[in-house]
Amino acid sequence: MSAPRKLHIKSYGCQMNVYDAQRMVDTLAPEGFVETASADDADLVILNTCHIREKASEKVFSELGRLRVMKEDAAREGHDVRIAVAGCVAQAEGAEIMRRAPTVDVVVGPQSYHNLPQLLEQAAREGRALDTEFPVEDKFKFLKAPSNRAIRARGVSSFVTVQEGCDKFCTFCVVPYTRGAEASRPVEHIAEEVRRLADNGVREITLIGQNVNAYHGEGPDGRVWSLGRLAHHLAAIPGIVRLRYSTSHPRDMDDSLIEAHRDLPALMPFVHLPVQSGSDRILAAMNRRHRADDYRRIIARFRDACPDIAFSSDFIVGFPGETETDFAATLALVGEIGYASAYSFKYSPRPGTPAADMGDAVPPAVMDERLARLQHLIDSQQAAFNAAMVGRTVDVLFERPARNPGQIVGRTPYLQPLHVMASPDIVGQVLPVAVMRHESYSLFGDIVAATPPPARVATAQPQPATGA
Ligand code: 5AD
Ligand code: SF4
Repeated sequence: MSAPRKLHIKSYGCQMNVYDAQRMVDTLAPEGFVETASADDADLVILNTCHIREKASEKVFSELGRLRVMKEDAAREGHDVRIAVAGCVAQAEGAEIMRRAPTVDVVVGPQSYHNLPQLLEQAAREGRALDTEFPVEDKFKFLKAPSNRAIRARGVSSFVTVQEGCDKFCTFCVVPYTRGAEASRPVEHIAEEVRRLADNGVREITLIGQNVNAYHGEGPDGRVWSLGRLAHHLAAIPGIVRLRYSTSHPRDMDDSLIEAHRDLPALMPFVHLPVQSGSDRILAAMNRRHRADDYRRIIARFRDACPDIAFSSDFIVGFPGETETDFAATLALVGEIGYASAYSFKYSPRPGTPAADMGDAVPPAVMDERLARLQHLIDSQQAAFNAAMVGRTVDVLFERPARNPGQIVGRTPYLQPLHVMASPDIVGQVLPVAVMRHESYSLFGDIVAATPPPARVATAQPQPATGA
């Protein structure tokens, strides 16, 4: 057998790109590719790009400039390096990439990753290959599943894509153009993937999708299932102790999902629910299809169903036409809701989106100043949320040894990293921890009432596959 070829993937952007990168690794593994952490010794480098905000494509072109030098140096030493561009910039600007960057061998859009082996062959044969189709077939049927060893190497927490694409067409957003129309995977495909993951040590699943709570996949009964119903089904899979989902749209929030937070202990009480702005005028211009009060009511319904629930959000400041009054409404909303964390961004016009032609741009200095004020408020809420954990006992799913010797790091239900001094045997277990102190974003604590794991002797009684 020939020596394995080395593959390096550099991913930008969202969780779905992280998941897609793993599926590209899995799809190329049967072709003899093994992953390497550095681009320098790779035979194939894939840039898995993001197009959501400013300068994304410029970043790709400057990275391609560096890779070109590396490729030419390698060629002089007789080493043939291939370069591929994947992700949303590939989808949006594939032809432009081919034109401007002759160093690129393959351009592949997010719906075509299962074609990577053929595209590499085509590039070897014909020089270059491009595939940015939106095929009608379900790409998930064609992507290769990870090996058991790959799953175990990736740790106890895993993303699983349940839905892709978006039909909302917020006026600022490229996703409906780069990821295409909204589509949901059938329940049984997802359950099968989750069972494989659980059998190989995964304990926490984050269900991902651009608009994940619009999920409407076909159930085993032939009917359309909601995300809430899917969550119940997946929580019953032995070994799965935690479920999360991201990213939701307020308009698609339904009772089944909210009630699942009341009824399903595995569903973590932490919801990322972007609102983008607190001003109804701006929400309308963004085509968000909800008002600030609708959002407040949804948050109240969640809090009724699950009193210890916490929220994060995304915000855009400086959307075209945003006045100081509009921005004040955003600050007021943040003040009312009280977030555990949140992301905020300066508005960036995306080519081809309606907002890019709206005019009435907010001056950059005003945007900077608003962003700083919003981030200051969010940071203070996050610090207060973390500080309030001290003195409480929280369940932590332990993920891996930390950098500091002797420490193991895990996550609270609210995704805060938490460190304890303990043996690495606790990785994969959920244990109660008394939180003793916090340092910026990390918590530190002591495991309480840890029941020792059952002795590892052969017994007649099968043990459940859970790690906790
Ligand atoms: N400008 C700034 N932020 C954007 N986002 C999406 N498109 C843009 C844009 N054009 C932000 C939104 C979204 C998050 C993923 O990125 O807040 O929720
Ligand atoms: Fe983009 Fe989210 Fe709006 Fe869809 S719902 S268009 S992904 S911001």
